[in-house]
Amino acid sequence: MSRVSDSKLATLKRRAQRAASLAYAPYSGFTVGAAVLTGTGEIFAGANVENVSYGLSICAERNAVQQAAAHGARRIAAIVVYTPTSEPTPPCGACRQVLAEFGSETLVVCCGKGGRVSRHRLRELLPDAFGVDKLGLSIQVRTGSATARTAAKHRQSRRRRS
Ligand code: THU
Repeated sequence: MSRVSDSKLATLKRRAQRAASLAYAPYSGFTVGAAVLTGTGEIFAGANVENVSYGLSICAERNAVQQAAAHGARRIAAIVVYTPTSEPTPPCGACRQVLAEFGSETLVVCCGKGGRVSRHRLRELLPDAFGVDKLGLSIQVRTGSATARTAAKHRQSRRRRS
């Protein structure tokens, strides 16, 4: 389990705070910022971006994770979520599932304007997660071609079952 230093967490918090200040939340008025630390030490931040067709809105956590993944990250060591509220806000269920794709040991730190900070490993926030093992597959991360092989294997095993 990788340890994330306090200074790294402080940097992530600053990035999450800055992201929250750029959130687009005209409907809920609830701004959220998130910053992820990838397995290779890079940081990506994201904010919630709402849409007039409400269901198309995206949470800050997923925005940050998807930016990291789109830049090649395949493991997320930590995420810091910031909301300008007195109490910290934990990630919603959908964001927990998306985070689970990139690590069950991911450190999830949530903070607000008050002093209370919540700190968990992702597996504590999403116990008995639906994962690739449930599909009877294993995936090799880090390369694009591995993803294709997984899909091919999946098709093959479906054929075998039918
Ligand atoms: N929101 C997040 O960004 N992250 C969460 O984990 C929970 C909710 C956003 C979505 C929406 O823009 C606003 O907060 C109110 O639900």
